[in-house]
Amino acid sequence: MKTVTCTAPVNIAVIKYWGKRDTELILPTNDSLSVTLSQDILHSKTTISASKDYTQDRLWLNGKEEDITKNRRMHNCFRETRALREKMEQADSTLEPLSTYNVHVCSENNFPTAAGLASSASGLAALVYTLAQLFDLNVTVSELSRIARQGSGSACRSLFGGFVAWEKGEAKDGSDSMAVQVAPESHWPELEALVCVVSDAKKGTSSTEGMQHTVQTSPLFQERLNIVPGRMEAMKKAILERDFQSFAELTMRDSNQFHSVCLDTYPPIFYLNDTSRAIIQLVHAYNNSSPDGKLKAAYTYDAGSNAVIYAPKENMREIIQLISHYFPSQDAATYFTDPYNVIAGAPLGQD
Ligand code: DP6
Repeated sequence: MKTVTCTAPVNIAVIKYWGKRDTELILPTNDSLSVTLSQDILHSKTTISASKDYTQDRLWLNGKEEDITKNRRMHNCFRETRALREKMEQADSTLEPLSTYNVHVCSENNFPTAAGLASSASGLAALVYTLAQLFDLNVTVSELSRIARQGSGSACRSLFGGFVAWEKGEAKDGSDSMAVQVAPESHWPELEALVCVVSDAKKGTSSTEGMQHTVQTSPLFQERLNIVPGRMEAMKKAILERDFQSFAELTMRDSNQFHSVCLDTYPPIFYLNDTSRAIIQLVHAYNNSSPDGKLKAAYTYDAGSNAVIYAPKENMREIIQLISHYFPSQDAATYFTDPYNVIAGAPLGQD
């Protein structure tokens, strides 16, 4: 029996992935770019063992056994990594035939239980990375990201730290649709993220389902596809130059546009709630109060109501005070600071 344990971080997109051109291979309609949050606060931890004595593949998620036969995406990740291992075994007959063994997978998230943060990115990234270690695969991280992409699109970006682009690619078979690192986490240590937990309720419309409704019904979405390429270039430049003004404006504009195409979907998809919108107003009011007219913080929202606020470290204390003042938590708010770039907050209370 061989057992391996690995962790993978959460990533939060600043240029959003929303829409697939191939739902089976998970090929996106546009490039996207994310910031990987520190693993010390938020991560998925996966242990996988392979044994010739196991009679079937089995999966436990957060301590509860799940029916793995229903999980096609996970199967795709098993199939791809086993095929790579099989090739190695064919080339070297002294290798243990791990590709023929069944596996037991045990995965859990260390997120504050109430966080309600998307976990598919870190979860699937941890799965694929752990399989690669288990099978001793000799492949690049970008190659692995191509496999993780088939588990959940955003998972491909969680295989890297720092600032990560997912290039949509052009090939029909997805061979050029993978993640690349734009800059490592050490590049911009002054940039921090505050995770504001607005609601821990499960979202009404899953990303997978919602984005295809958008592709099928939103005319505004077609316009977004013309806008994203320019934004990607501008965002990469802003990151490389550590230009918070451009980074912040692009981040907020892209979040707003993503939620606009959700609203333009027919029937519309609502991810933001009153608290989310109030946080948007608060961040704009805070930015407007800046004496030199400079942006001090930027919000972004995924397919849910929780806010992530990016800001230079020097502003973070003030932002936490503002948020705690206007959105007092039911529980005492505990914020964890971190040497890298994430601060996770306690729930802000439900609306
Ligand atoms: C709004 O990666 O969860 O978070 O590929 O269907 O698994 P699937 O979708 P998923 O979508 C994430 C959408 C998003 C934006 C982003 O992370 O880029």
